[in-house]
Amino acid sequence: MTKSERYDEYLAFAELYDYVVPYRERQDVSFFVEAAKAAGGPVLEVGCGSGRVLIPTARAGIEITGLDLSADMLAVCRERLKAEPQEVQSRVLLVQEDMRAFELPERFRLATLPFRPFQHLTTVEDQLACLGCIQRHLVEGGRVILDIFNPMMEALVKKNFGEEMAEEPEFTMPDGRKVIRRHKITSRDVANQINYVELIYYVTHADGKQERLVQAFPMRYLFRFEAEHLLARAGFEVEQLYSDYDKSPYGAKYPGELIFMARKR
Ligand SMILES: C[S@@+](CC[C@H](N)C(=O)[O-])C[C@H]1O[C@@H](n2cnc3c(N)ncnc32)[C@H](O)[C@@H]1O
Repeated sequence: MTKSERYDEYLAFAELYDYVVPYRERQDVSFFVEAAKAAGGPVLEVGCGSGRVLIPTARAGIEITGLDLSADMLAVCRERLKAEPQEVQSRVLLVQEDMRAFELPERFRLATLPFRPFQHLTTVEDQLACLGCIQRHLVEGGRVILDIFNPMMEALVKKNFGEEMAEEPEFTMPDGRKVIRRHKITSRDVANQINYVELIYYVTHADGKQERLVQAFPMRYLFRFEAEHLLARAGFEVEQLYSDYDKSPYGAKYPGELIFMARKR
């Protein structure tokens, strides 16, 4: 996809993103801020979205470039940045680029992909293109943190396709809209490890008008050793594998996350 073709998977949903309760309450921000501080910056956040992690990182004194393909998510991030002090704003550069094909002038000590942007890539070709781009943008000895979910075996054998799951509390937007979000898997391509996911937003406006918005996208699931092999093919050596943002080692929690810290070889 070129930048002129509008990438719109996040189109109508960008403004809702920061209010979704499980996103708002995700316990990963301090992990990424600490990693950025340890690296010392500059940091590249690939798939930075609305700045959920990027803005706290800049507040911590780190120079950070946020890369995202979605003009709408970047617009939310820019708007949020306007409320930050000038010195925080001055540490941030936002670029609208595809994580599979980008060329920036700067080289980074750390690249991060918080909250699974990598799983939007559905082919090995795209995954390697992305990791290759990241590798070329790191200084010698620079690191990448690849953050993906650990596929849960029990969930993969379930065939609850089309069933809307409602586990999240309602949230309220600043303009008074009340939103209930549900999610479902419409189908699974087992051969290619892809879940076709829908996030469904039931919106009730202040005047009582109701809307049902559907964000549909494919998500690839990756297994532990597959991700390790991909990182190795792209020129990285895995140093750490965590199952949680509290740095629990892989295996300590199930399913937990797959959080790889890998060093450029
Ligand atoms: C789940 S959000 C994560 C945002 C942010 N990192 C966070 O932790 O909140 C995934 C992001 O990846 C972006 N994305 C998806 N495909 C992309 C691509 N090919 N290149 C760049 N960004 C992409 C989306 O626009 C979205 O902002």
